[in-house]
Amino acid sequence: MAASQTIDLTNLVYDFKSIVDPLDLGELFPVAQPLEVELGCGDASFLAEYARRHPATNFLGVERLLGRIKKLDRKGRLARLTNLRGVRIESAYFLQYLLPAQCAEAVHIYFPDPWPKKKHHRHRLINAAFPSLARRVLRPGGVVYLRTDDRDYFAQMTEVFGAAAEFERVATPEELAGVLTDFERGFQAQGIPTLAAAYRSR
Ligand SMILES: C[S@@+](CC[C@H](N)C(=O)[O-])C[C@H]1O[C@@H](n2cnc3c(N)ncnc32)[C@H](O)[C@@H]1O
Repeated sequence: MAASQTIDLTNLVYDFKSIVDPLDLGELFPVAQPLEVELGCGDASFLAEYARRHPATNFLGVERLLGRIKKLDRKGRLARLTNLRGVRIESAYFLQYLLPAQCAEAVHIYFPDPWPKKKHHRHRLINAAFPSLARRVLRPGGVVYLRTDDRDYFAQMTEVFGAAAEFERVATPEELAGVLTDFERGFQAQGIPTLAAAYRSR
């Protein structure tokens, strides 16, 4: 996009011009600065607050439900955020085909659908193929941040990332852990414990 072209921030949900060509991030954000992505961002409680705290980073929320991605738009515009955008699309497809390679400093995945029945585990986003998808879009040194309330899914997450030689486990920064998601607030209110892990791309 030409530098002189203005980016429309009256709707923070980006309208794809193509769902087969890689995204031009210059069409989404007025300022070229580091990018972090949240997959399954829900109502964007986490992302809008985190974007407000970190104006020198661009944040992109990925969510398949229209009602939820509209909440990202509402929250972002209310707070007049220019570093927050959303896309309505399926996360794995987005990572594999649309997000440019090595464009992101972080991928956040918080409380992804746990698909608790064994016969449904194949629907889980974090599976054996996921570390390669994440690695493709992360810059070297970029980090995947994970949270879940589901012990079995957490075991699967740590197993697949533990087996991925291109990632090493790191600590989650306190400031980041303190910014809660909508589901996380619900779990905390009910006294349900949650689990977190982070993996840095080597
Ligand atoms: C359990 S909710 C958690 C939402 C939010 N991360 C939170 O913690 O409040 C999971 C979210 O991921 C979205 N989602 C599930 N699978 C997805 C996928 N494959 N691609 C994009 N969004 C997805 C759902 O629509 C839902 O909003």
